[in-house]
Amino acid sequence: MSELLFNPFDPAFRANPYPFYDRLRTEAPVYPTPFGTFVLTRYEDIAFTLRSNDFSRDIEAHAAEPATDFAKQRRERAKLRTKSILNLDPPDHTRLRRIVTKAFTPSAIESLRPRIQQLVDDVLDVAAERGSMELVDELAFPVPFQVISDLLDMPTERAEELRSWSQHITASLEPTADESTLTRADEAIGQLLPYLVQIIEHRRTHLGDDLLSGLILAEESGDRLSIEELIAFVVLLYVAGHETTVNLIGNGTLALLREPAQLRRWHDDPSLDANAVDELLRFDGPVQLTVRVPLVPVTYGTGDTAVEVPANTIVTTVLGAANHDPAMFDDPHTLRLDRPNANRHLAFAAGVHYCLGSSLAKLEAQIAIGSLVRRFPDMHLAGVPRWRDRLTIRGVDHLPIALA
Ligand code: HEM
Repeated sequence: MSELLFNPFDPAFRANPYPFYDRLRTEAPVYPTPFGTFVLTRYEDIAFTLRSNDFSRDIEAHAAEPATDFAKQRRERAKLRTKSILNLDPPDHTRLRRIVTKAFTPSAIESLRPRIQQLVDDVLDVAAERGSMELVDELAFPVPFQVISDLLDMPTERAEELRSWSQHITASLEPTADESTLTRADEAIGQLLPYLVQIIEHRRTHLGDDLLSGLILAEESGDRLSIEELIAFVVLLYVAGHETTVNLIGNGTLALLREPAQLRRWHDDPSLDANAVDELLRFDGPVQLTVRVPLVPVTYGTGDTAVEVPANTIVTTVLGAANHDPAMFDDPHTLRLDRPNANRHLAFAAGVHYCLGSSLAKLEAQIAIGSLVRRFPDMHLAGVPRWRDRLTIRGVDHLPIALA
């Protein structure tokens, strides 16, 4: 295939990847890239890959040597960092995930509802007086950031610095990350780590019933969690805890502003809350892709169109493409808040790495977007939304809204 169908360097692709996903899915659903990796866009193949035990999430340990010098360097850099659960396979993954599972069960998360509602109401009260708001800075970032800070009992006075560090860290996850992006991410980690170590050391002598104290107790009780694993865990929770949810609130609100009839529908029928958020996750989810490595050769499809992927080859599963696969979702590019199978989306992936924070993210979005919709059914765009130039973590970073 001469034409490059999956080109994360093409600005048009990053601006609106969905037409590109459709073409890939139709013409080459198991697409071999010139970089020696494969890209999957069919729902069925992606769901199978994420759930199969024949695949690893630990790229550094199992993927074959990358093709370019830059990719090799990038791999070496990644090896220097302690892995978080996101990059580990069982049994280490199982051991670490068990330590925090209790804090994230749907009932534990439901108990946060009044606090989240209060945070959202405070923001909306101020915005209502003004008649307008900038959604990202006023609501989509501060609410999830405050909630994860509450859970870990972290101070919030350095919110802006933390926001910028975590943006630099997530920018390094992009397939297009260049040398300067990786250096900025290393610098951000270099600033974040001492800050966290200082908080952890203080907390050792001031334990409470927060999640960080729970992790410290697990670390102190012996070999269940090393100090490096503890820090990697806190970084992951902190970054994953708000960097993604901000984009669900941002992308979700924008999708509704572009479909006022759906916005009105949700306003008139609050029982849509849970399904509406699933549909927004399906329609334009914050995490567009993730990767796996097969440990054995894997065949996708059957007959003449079957494609074999060799063991130890990086496979990119495009979650956003799975969520727009017409074989799974009728009329996939249409937003339908009452879509009967909206909750089959793969926006939180699937299998053992299924998002630990999914209940929390959904609750935050239900309360944030649901409250906006109920209070301001006539809200509309008051300027041009600005997309961050990203593919892996997709979201707007500026969304001005008129509320009346
Ligand atoms: C809308 C918001 C969110 C989205 C779309 C999202 C998406 C994802 C996805 C796709 C994965 C799996 C990645 C893979 O398999 O390679 C994941 C894993 C994870 N997420 Fe989320 N996430 C969100 C919010 C959160 C929140 C609020 C937290 C925590 C407070 C969180 C914590 C985690 C953790 C710890 C993992 C790793 C789980 C594991 O490896 O077992 N996420 N998330």
